[in-house]
Amino acid sequence: MTVHFIGAGPGAADLITLRGRDLIAASPVCLYAGSLVPEALLAHCPQGARIVNTAPLSLDEIIDLIAAAHRAGEDVARLHSGDLSVWSAMGEQLRRLRALDIPYDVTPGVPSFAAAAATLGAELTLPGVVQSVVLTRVSGRASAMPETESLQNFARTGAVLAIHLSVHVLDKVVAELSPHYGAECPVAVVWRASWPDERVVRATLGTLETAVGGEMERTALILVGHSIGAQEFDESRLYAGDYDRRYRPIGTNPRFPEGGA
Ligand SMILES: C[S@@+](CC[C@H](N)C(=O)[O-])C[C@H]1O[C@@H](n2cnc3c(N)ncnc32)[C@H](O)[C@@H]1O
Repeated sequence: MTVHFIGAGPGAADLITLRGRDLIAASPVCLYAGSLVPEALLAHCPQGARIVNTAPLSLDEIIDLIAAAHRAGEDVARLHSGDLSVWSAMGEQLRRLRALDIPYDVTPGVPSFAAAAATLGAELTLPGVVQSVVLTRVSGRASAMPETESLQNFARTGAVLAIHLSVHVLDKVVAELSPHYGAECPVAVVWRASWPDERVVRATLGTLETAVGGEMERTALILVGHSIGAQEFDESRLYAGDYDRRYRPIGTNPRFPEGGA
């Protein structure tokens, strides 16, 4: 018996890995995390599977369900939105499972920041403009931010910020970032990336609040940084015609004469 933690992706039912889909199909129990996991994914569950939405349950209740499946020798597919490495509450479940000696494995999923970037058709790390992406959020009721991880501190680096769980405090985001990035800095907000009702607003830090208006839907990602929509950037050296590299040796005295791996 194994508990399979599976990244369910950002929303579109076909943005799940083949491994994740096959594990759902092979597990007689499926626990899924509420409205952010597309119900269409549940169609992969085998006939007669026990399917439980864990949104209204406490951690104790979720672990009780898993422990019952463990006693019955039944595999569990545990679905969380996006990828499991960020804001999935997987860590606390794994700790409990380790204490109970219940086996588990983890299958990654498409994170929402990647789905939002895909919607924008954007490479976030453009040469000569930005080379880092920070996945972050502001403090919420459930989790406070460590003091050093303020938006202002991240803004000082000039990295692209992918700000989760924060669209309800857009005014705070704009106020904290504007002194560092400037009012002209491009911003995009993507609501429900990859869902059928996906919505996008492109603006600048200076115009963002007006552009967004009173939108209340909270499942949104705010992307801020100078690579968003940029047209002025360097080409990567990797594909430059004169760049001598292992997979494309150039000239009579290449740096990697053997080529290949
Ligand atoms: C609890 S976190 C889950 C993050 C998830 N584990 C991931 O890999 O993206 C929920 C937040 O992620 C963002 N999010 C999740 N799905 C999204 C989507 N389809 N479009 C835009 N933002 C999304 C929103 O900021 C939302 O408030």
